[in-house]
Amino acid sequence: MKISPSMLSADFTRLAEEVRDIEAAGADYLHVDVMDGRFVSNITIGPFVVEAIKSVATVPLDVHLMIEEPERYVSEFAAAGAGIITVHAEATRHLHGTIQMIKATGARAGVSINPATPVGVLHDIIEDLDLVLVMSVNPGFGGQSFIRGALKKVAAIRSIIKESCLSTELEVDGGIKVDNIAEVALAGADVVVAGSGIFKTPSYADTITQMREAVAGI
Ligand code: DX5
Ligand code: ZN
Repeated sequence: MKISPSMLSADFTRLAEEVRDIEAAGADYLHVDVMDGRFVSNITIGPFVVEAIKSVATVPLDVHLMIEEPERYVSEFAAAGAGIITVHAEATRHLHGTIQMIKATGARAGVSINPATPVGVLHDIIEDLDLVLVMSVNPGFGGQSFIRGALKKVAAIRSIIKESCLSTELEVDGGIKVDNIAEVALAGADVVVAGSGIFKTPSYADTITQMREAVAGI
């Protein structure tokens, strides 16, 4: 199980320190939430801040683009140091083309689906993907409650990955904490995003250790 802490819940006045602390606590990736005020109502950060995070990070940046027409910005986020670039299936007209564009930059390509988006949209492209990201909240803000309907989607995607012998990573994002990470892992996730569930706890290291203990043996 990989853990990708969402930097959205970090203290941005101490960003470099937060990156160092969360890496020391055992983060496998750093999840970076990019929002444009159109695909989602919130506005967060752009390539400039991704580049700043990259300059102090040692683990791959897992960049989650919650923006309309993400194809317009793929090359900028790749140049800023994204290791994984994930776009929303709902936000791009030519999903296959956008995936190829991400791969051409050398970054790994991910596709995310919202809670109301059926798994079927992935059917014809999953073999091209390095990562699938299932949203377990409606994107836009940290600190929301986990939507349980995501679990059966995770299980369905895990079956496809297994049956087709793919190495696609299966990531789940939103409302994940120590007390529900086990069911997410059980459904078949192998990467978990957690923002408030880690950054709003007193010890990042203790929380990540508890998360790993909760999924040990699954
Ligand atoms: C939501 C973002 C998530 C969010 C997760 O739009 O994509 O990555 O930061 O935060 P928590 O873990 O607090 O739900
Ligand atoms: Zn995210």
